[in-house]
Amino acid sequence: MHIDVLTLFPDYFTGPLDASLLGRARVRGAVDVGVHDLRRWTRGVHNTADDSPYGGGAGMVLKPEPFFEAVDDLYGGPQDRPRTVVLTPRGRLLDQRLVEELAGEPGLLLLCGRYEGIDERVHRGLAHDEVSIGDYVLAGGEVAACAIIEAVVRLLPGVMGNVESGTDESFGEGLLEYPHYTRPPEYRGMAVPEVLRSGDHQKVRRWRREQAIARTREVRPDLYERWRGDAQSD
Ligand code: ADE
Repeated sequence: MHIDVLTLFPDYFTGPLDASLLGRARVRGAVDVGVHDLRRWTRGVHNTADDSPYGGGAGMVLKPEPFFEAVDDLYGGPQDRPRTVVLTPRGRLLDQRLVEELAGEPGLLLLCGRYEGIDERVHRGLAHDEVSIGDYVLAGGEVAACAIIEAVVRLLPGVMGNVESGTDESFGEGLLEYPHYTRPPEYRGMAVPEVLRSGDHQKVRRWRREQAIARTREVRPDLYERWRGDAQSD
């Protein structure tokens, strides 16, 4: 997969893209990420990327031209442009279903906003999707783009060592994940549940499922209700 990112802060991406799973995935060639400095497509002595909003109000808005001109330069034409995602708190909430959908694309273009946002014509003219990573406001789209890249890349073929760990996890079935334990069997007065050490795989499976259901019900009643609804309609 090829992922392009347009940002005013390319330095944001050096750490996350080089470390751990993402770094290895890039070395192995499972993904190739091009981080492009939006300033390359700004004009004038000050290389201004933003301007004050029409209609007044606080803050600055990112101008449309650098985004459109970058896209003109990076791709051969509209049919060449990959699925384009604008990161914005007003977008559709990112969830595992959307991550899976994005992971099925041959390429992605991620557009990062800053300040009050990006000129609406970029949303209208370039975005296939507007995506938010949560109901809170970040200083810009960079952290959200990193989140998408990491969540997508770990689903690409050959990226995760243990294939199982990609399927038996949180949200796989619409439930949060059960608790994990490793050695030692007791630590600071906290013991590993007996069932996990029993060697009875069926019991372990049942216990994990019960834990997943109980945890989801407690911390994410919204997910729990959806899961129950889905289970009933099956
Ligand atoms: N930019 C600022 N806040 C954001 C959020 N929550 N998700 C995506 N992009 C953002």
